[in-house]
Amino acid sequence: MSQGVNQADRPLVRDDAEGGRDLFSKFDEIIRTRETLLASGVEDPFGLVMEKVLSPTRAICNGRDTILLGTYNYMGMTFDPDVIAAGKQALDEFGSGTTGSRVLNGTYAGHKAVEDALREFYAMDHAMVFSTGYQANLGIISTIAGKGDYIVLDIDSHASIWDGCKMGDAEVVPFKHNDIDAMEKRLRRIPEGAGKLVVLEGVYSMLGDVAPLAEMVAIAKKHGAMVLVDEAHSMGFIGEHGRGVAEAQGVIDQVDFVIGTFSKSVGTVGGFCVSNHPKFEIMRLVCRPYVFTASLPPSVVATAATSIRKLMHGSNKRAHLWENSKRLHAGLRELGFKLGTDEPQSAIVAVIMPDLERGAAMWEALLREGLYVNLARPPATPAGMTLLRCSLCAEHSSEEVGTILGMFERAGKAVGII
Ligand SMILES: Cc1ncc(COP(=O)(O)O)c(C=O)c1O
Repeated sequence: MSQGVNQADRPLVRDDAEGGRDLFSKFDEIIRTRETLLASGVEDPFGLVMEKVLSPTRAICNGRDTILLGTYNYMGMTFDPDVIAAGKQALDEFGSGTTGSRVLNGTYAGHKAVEDALREFYAMDHAMVFSTGYQANLGIISTIAGKGDYIVLDIDSHASIWDGCKMGDAEVVPFKHNDIDAMEKRLRRIPEGAGKLVVLEGVYSMLGDVAPLAEMVAIAKKHGAMVLVDEAHSMGFIGEHGRGVAEAQGVIDQVDFVIGTFSKSVGTVGGFCVSNHPKFEIMRLVCRPYVFTASLPPSVVATAATSIRKLMHGSNKRAHLWENSKRLHAGLRELGFKLGTDEPQSAIVAVIMPDLERGAAMWEALLREGLYVNLARPPATPAGMTLLRCSLCAEHSSEEVGTILGMFERAGKAVGII
């Protein structure tokens, strides 16, 4: 392509010199959707830069002090002084990175310490830390369920769960979101004697709804299936000890594998699996996304271990976060917004937008008010929905929740949504 050609004049699909197809042509639809959206003059909702982060709930965006209502920082641990001090100390004492896999030169004292903290937090025998939550799902699911095995999973499962299924090559049997009967029907059809894994999430992150785990886990067990629950969005907040929805619904002892992440309530990056399975430790040698990647930096595992230990004593924060979630949910409903759940079920409150254009306009109007939320659209969202996803933090003050509701009211009226 010669220089000086107008972007708009370029054909989206081009053939190379040998007449082969441009491998990027499969992205043409999403490129067009994005260009149409940006041509309407709206700011890019997927390209926001936080110029400075002031606290778990505030950042400077476009030069303006902005309330953050679209992070996964549920327990507000990112600026906890003990967490920061632990990270700094590890950086000084162990350096900036491990430069190696957990099974070679990448296991430091800090990696063992964070696994100890996880075992204690969940009261489970084994804990295995991955470099991200994505890799934890990818690794555990693909390693335990392979060719000839069956995975029964909720259709709204996170991308990392789907990718883990694909990588392992098991038969994948999805069922309608949170539908107990549909799940059982799928389990009944699996041939006798086959290996079965049921994969569920505690909180589904798009709508913020929880799974009926008590019923689903009991049914899975009745059919001889192992159960994996991804508690990414409930750790630290839901359940008496913050162990998640499986704890809150009294079935955590029957769950074979709990998957979690450090990138939400823990406030850093990393992923993990905890389990009581007696053979679990073999995973460290056979799980490719654990073996064939570098381990987390020492500062990260130090911050994670400190944060997890503090979350063990987080009941006041949990109570305040529930108050925030209930107040925001009720307030938005009163204002006339359509929400993802009838009642608040987690720290996520999803506001359903009529379409992408008005969703993006509302997102931008909120940003101008000084409020950041997530704009979520298909394929991440179920049923083709466009959502403004609000996730609350235990560090949002009650006053801030009131301010947020005022911002929603003004933006909603300006855009014509309420
Ligand atoms: C349900 C669920 N599982 C796993 C992950 C992946 O976590 P991580 O950010 O640690 O890769 C996410 C992240 O959004 C998630 O929502």
